[in-house]
Amino acid sequence: MSITIDLAGATAWVTGGASGIGADIVTTLAAAGARVVSLDRLYPKSDGGHPPPPGVTHAHLDVSDPQSIERVARALLDEGLEPDILVNNAGITRDAAMWNLTDEQWTAVIDVNLTAAFRLTRTIVPSMRERHAGAIVNMASVNGIRGKFGQTNYAASKGGLIAFTRALARELGPRGIRVNAIAPGMIETPMTGQLSEDVRANAKSESALGRLGHPRDIANAVLFLVSPLASHITGHVLVVDGGQIA
Ligand code: NAI
Repeated sequence: MSITIDLAGATAWVTGGASGIGADIVTTLAAAGARVVSLDRLYPKSDGGHPPPPGVTHAHLDVSDPQSIERVARALLDEGLEPDILVNNAGITRDAAMWNLTDEQWTAVIDVNLTAAFRLTRTIVPSMRERHAGAIVNMASVNGIRGKFGQTNYAASKGGLIAFTRALARELGPRGIRVNAIAPGMIETPMTGQLSEDVRANAKSESALGRLGHPRDIANAVLFLVSPLASHITGHVLVVDGGQIA
C-alpha cells in the first residue's frame, strides 16, 4: 500500500510565506498540489520582480493593518480563491526582559502574532462555514507553552494563539472545520539567525535529537495537519521541536 497526500483542488493561504518556515510551507503545499496564496509584507520586494512558481500567488499584506486584511482578503475571495486551508504563520519577536519591555514591543508582537490571526481567520471563516469544510493551522511556539526569559510578549502571543486554537476548534468543529496549532522548537530561519551563538547552542543542547529544526520539519507537520490523514485531529497543539521541551 502506498499513501500520498494529494491536495489538488484545494486552495491554501499562508501568511509570512516570503521567508523561513512560511516559504517552506508554501513550497510543500504547492508540491502536494494545492493552489497556494502566499501573503507577506515583503512582497513584491522579496521576489525581486520574479513571478512566483506555478500554482503559487504572491500577495502583499501587512497583517498588522486591519484595513489591509479586509481589502486583500476580499479581493482574493472575489477572485474565487476561497481558502480550504489557512496557515496563520506570520510572526515577529521583540525580545527584552519584562521590566525593559516598551508598549511598542508588547503591542507589535501581540498585533502580528495573535490579533492578526484572529482578524484574518474571522474574514475567511464565513466562506469555510458555507462550504462545511476547512483546515486552519496556527503557528505557535514551544515558548508559548513553557516560560522563556526575555519573551513575555512573545509567550503571551503564542500562548494566546494556542488558547484561541482550542476555543475555535470547539466553535468550528460542528461545521466540519478543523483548527490546530503547531509549536515549533528552535528552527533555522532568518528569525533565529539573528540570535547569539550561545542561545542557538543552548537550544541545540536542550534538544533530544541534538540539532535545530529545519523549516521543512514544520512544513511537513503542516502538510499532515491539513491533509485527510488528520481528519480526526482538531484543537490539538503539535509540538515539533526535536524533543526540546520533552
Ligand atoms: P521569519 O522572520 O524567517 O519569517 C517570518 C515571515 O513573516 C517573514 O516573511 C515576514 O516578512 C513575515 N511577517 C512578519 N510580520 C508580518 C506582517 N506584519 N505582515 C505580513 N507578514 C509579516 O520567521 P520564521 O522563523 O520563519 O517564523 C515563522 C513563524 O514560526 C512565526 O510565527 C514564528 O513565531 C514561529 N516560530 C518560529 C520559530 C523559529 O525557531 N524560527 C520557533 C517557534 C515558532
